[in-house]
Amino acid sequence: MSHDEKTLNKSANRLFDDVLQVNLVRRKVLTGGLALAAGSFFFGVSGAASTTTGGIKAANVATGKRRKNGLINFNPVKLADGNGPWPMISSDYKFDVLIPWGEPLQPGGPSFSHPPSADEQANQIGIGHDGMWFFPIKGSSEHGLLAINHEFGHNQHVLGKPNPESLEDVRTSQHAHGVSVVEIKKIKGQWQTVASSASRRIHVNTPVAFSGPVAGHPLLNTRAGNEPMGTVNNCSSGYTPWGTYLTCEENFNGYFGAKGDWSPNESQLRYGFSGDGFGYGWHDYDPRFDLANEGFHNEEHRFGWVVEIDPMDATQKPVKRTALGRFKHEGIALTVGRDGRVVGYMGDDQRFDYIYKFVSDDNHESMRARGISPLDDGVLYAARFNDDGSGEWLPLTIDNPALAARFASQAALMIDTRIAADIVGATPMDRPEWTTVAPNGEVYCTLTNNSRRTTADAANPMAPNNDGHIIKWCDSEQHTGTTFEWDIFIIANETHGTEQSFSAPDGVWADPDGRLFIQTDGSQKNGLNNQMLVADTLTGEIRRLFTGVVGAEITGITVTPDRSTMFINIQHPGNGDRARTNFPAAENGVTVPRDATIVLTRKDGGIIGS
Ligand code: FEO
Ligand code: CA
Ligand code: CA
Ligand code: CA
Repeated sequence: MSHDEKTLNKSANRLFDDVLQVNLVRRKVLTGGLALAAGSFFFGVSGAASTTTGGIKAANVATGKRRKNGLINFNPVKLADGNGPWPMISSDYKFDVLIPWGEPLQPGGPSFSHPPSADEQANQIGIGHDGMWFFPIKGSSEHGLLAINHEFGHNQHVLGKPNPESLEDVRTSQHAHGVSVVEIKKIKGQWQTVASSASRRIHVNTPVAFSGPVAGHPLLNTRAGNEPMGTVNNCSSGYTPWGTYLTCEENFNGYFGAKGDWSPNESQLRYGFSGDGFGYGWHDYDPRFDLANEGFHNEEHRFGWVVEIDPMDATQKPVKRTALGRFKHEGIALTVGRDGRVVGYMGDDQRFDYIYKFVSDDNHESMRARGISPLDDGVLYAARFNDDGSGEWLPLTIDNPALAARFASQAALMIDTRIAADIVGATPMDRPEWTTVAPNGEVYCTLTNNSRRTTADAANPMAPNNDGHIIKWCDSEQHTGTTFEWDIFIIANETHGTEQSFSAPDGVWADPDGRLFIQTDGSQKNGLNNQMLVADTLTGEIRRLFTGVVGAEITGITVTPDRSTMFINIQHPGNGDRARTNFPAAENGVTVPRDATIVLTRKDGGIIGS
């Protein structure tokens, strides 16, 4: 979404360094052709393979076989074909539409009508389908719980008017946001929702708990004494080795506004709070989101976190894990590192913001056996990318004198994670979006674009960066160390003029065989709709598997354990305008377009991506 595109980092970290020359030299040495640095760049990581995937017990990991002809054997969607009113998929594949916005959460629940009432929307699938994860029931590839983020839906799309006119309107908008956990099953070849005690909606008015260093701190308290509720702008996601879902709060600032006199403090400025927010108008009817209302000061500190949800237990209170920092969390890729410690990689999606990682203090199983969440005790780091291909993870801990001089406690530091990362000298990046950990230990991160970059550096080599790039790195000490080696995987601009053309990489997922799925969110060349491509990380081959519809982005990736089925999302088709598309309704002019999950299968039942 376009709200990620402002520049809020006013710190001087590296922005004014003149390193373009360094960068040009480096690019010549390390890349060529389509700018794909093949897997050979990293050394000594192959031994990590079994640990990385083997440690994730709840993961959708299957043993794929590299086909005779290579990893990718499907007929690609041609560049010239992917611009129509309907999705296009490789001729070797087929797709179905599953659970559009407004479908009842349970069979027999309130069916879609536009606009939905607040009550109806609380019992329906939300809008803005984004990150998601499939949690199989008893290991099944035909039955499981799908946890889906609902990132955003503007008022015109959800309510059919630009501004809410009542608290009821605001509640409808709030209930369209958040997360759906929905039980789905393949019955007679068709995936559908089934009645379930686990299915639930989590939205802006769902009670939540806080955990980690900020829990219980006065900076989370309001004078009104209202209990913490809700999650917003749920962008991408992650999952844990112990079977839970992590939903990431991205542009939380945009839901707040000011009804009266208000001017932003340093913290609010750094996160982009403004009097109008993104135009949701919640603050006009719900004082919780009114920055000028003294009773609700600090309410904004309750957003901008990673939230843990148990998909199997509808009674569990979602938990905000504050040790993972407060910023515009795009997503989180969790892996198991040395000594069984859990490691999470995260992007903060704003121009010139940072990449982070969290490392738990101890083995995740032993922590849980002691009743401690591995996501509560650990160290958060911000990344510095050096021009020579090395990198450092900079700890954001109060024992650093430079941070102790600015913050009174670790809790205060975590609330202003961005400011802490400014102080330690993290590298400003071109809008870090999704991260993913490949089975060989390489970590990939999409940097979607940055039209405001005027000075390139080696890690962000385009100025301006209109099309984005993908960076990769390999950490020392099996993800738990404080140094890494990095390289550029691909620069999107360099694909232009080829059949593999893409811009604005966003969603990304490394499968267990060495494929990298790349999803886009931004304008593509040749009038192409947003798309999903598959890259072979070893050879650099790329093919286009799927294209969406006008005005929509493609986001969200999860597979069944056997990888014969993949779920992805078409978000904001037609940008909500029925004159542009009625997707998934076949005829235009019938209904508002609806964000929806798409089910992909290979016609021969093979592994998705092959
Ligand atoms: Fe939610 Fe940065 O995309
Ligand atoms: Ca989006
Ligand atoms: Ca995104
Ligand atoms: Ca994006």
